[in-house]
Amino acid sequence: MTTQAKPEETAAPGGSSSFLSVRDLSVRFRTEDGVVRAVDNLSFEVERGTTLGIVGESGSGKSVTNLAILGLHNPANSEITGSIKLAGQELVGAPNKELEKLRGHTMSMIFQDPLTALSPFHTIGAQIGETYRKHTGASKKEARDRSIEMLTKVGIPQPTTRVDDFPHQFSGGMRQRAMIAMSLVCDPALVIADEPTTALDVTVQAQILDLLKELQQEMGTAIILITHDLGVVAKTAKDIMVMYAGRAVERGTVREVLKAPQHPYTWGLLSSMPNLTGPVGVPLRPVRGTPPSLINLPTGCPFNPRCDHLEQVIGGKCTTERPPLAPEAGHATACHLSSGQKQEIFIDQIQPRLG
Ligand SMILES: Nc1ncnc2c1ncn2[C@@H]1O[C@H](COP(=O)(O)OP(=O)(O)OP(=O)(O)O)[C@@H](O)[C@H]1O
Ligand SMILES: [Mg+2]
Repeated sequence: MTTQAKPEETAAPGGSSSFLSVRDLSVRFRTEDGVVRAVDNLSFEVERGTTLGIVGESGSGKSVTNLAILGLHNPANSEITGSIKLAGQELVGAPNKELEKLRGHTMSMIFQDPLTALSPFHTIGAQIGETYRKHTGASKKEARDRSIEMLTKVGIPQPTTRVDDFPHQFSGGMRQRAMIAMSLVCDPALVIADEPTTALDVTVQAQILDLLKELQQEMGTAIILITHDLGVVAKTAKDIMVMYAGRAVERGTVREVLKAPQHPYTWGLLSSMPNLTGPVGVPLRPVRGTPPSLINLPTGCPFNPRCDHLEQVIGGKCTTERPPLAPEAGHATACHLSSGQKQEIFIDQIQPRLG
């Protein structure tokens, strides 16, 4: 197997070495209706060989965040501020040529729907090989051998013949595996998987997640896994970031956050997924209300119109003051409730509901 030279990690502020470091990232879109604040002041880190799970309702800014990392927003209608450092290299404002070199090679993306990423007119082998040749300058023969190697690695049966199949000749699960093979063909150091298993049945979903984990262990890949499913995060990620209206409302290790969540929105998400921890057959309790407009965010905490705990916060701060995500490191929440209150509410009201 060919191994690419990997950029060196740099020491992050505070002395820890983090491979991907996102600081105060904001992404805004100019639209006819006004400025959409899709991502607002987001900071997080991902270390090599670990997975960060990003969860949040539809429209919370998960994909926009990750497209910013990949440099895929159109500069004509978007404004990106803050910093995204990959192995010490600043990506915000980097020339497109530079980003193009990194995409597919140092960082790559696995999309929800392989059919949007795979061309129907070219064989699977040609597409995997093309990505490899583009970044390594390998010969056609070398690229074909590498494609077969990758198809073997992701568990495609008879890879030496299936390499010449077109995408429509593969089943859904096999296409997803082929796309993973294509994403990993250059041994990227960072893989962003945006809902990689949503379209698949539960068994295939579990196989694909296991496969990603195996490849991560083998190659030390850093993974960002975007999903609606907290169960998937619980099984695969080390860290979790819960997003709401373009911001992080809770962040920490999966262990801490899922054992003792502290934000009312995370409580809502957990209550809406009883099969994660609770008994079967309990009716779903979706988070009441709808996400806010990102053009006109509510003043104060953006979650306040949907929150059940406003009266418990002294001084009515929830509707006037935006709570910061605190503390800066470790298990952090953006909520005005005191730590004591959060703990009490979780133990008395939320935990019994989760079973
Ligand atoms: N190019 C754009 N122009 C204007 N608004 C945009 C653009 N791209 C995304 N948005 C808006 O940004 C917000 C965040 O979108 P994003 O796709 O990141 O959500 P998401 O969390 O990935 O949701 P889902 O779970 O449905 O994939 C949405 O309100 C979306 O409409
Ligand atoms: Mg999305």
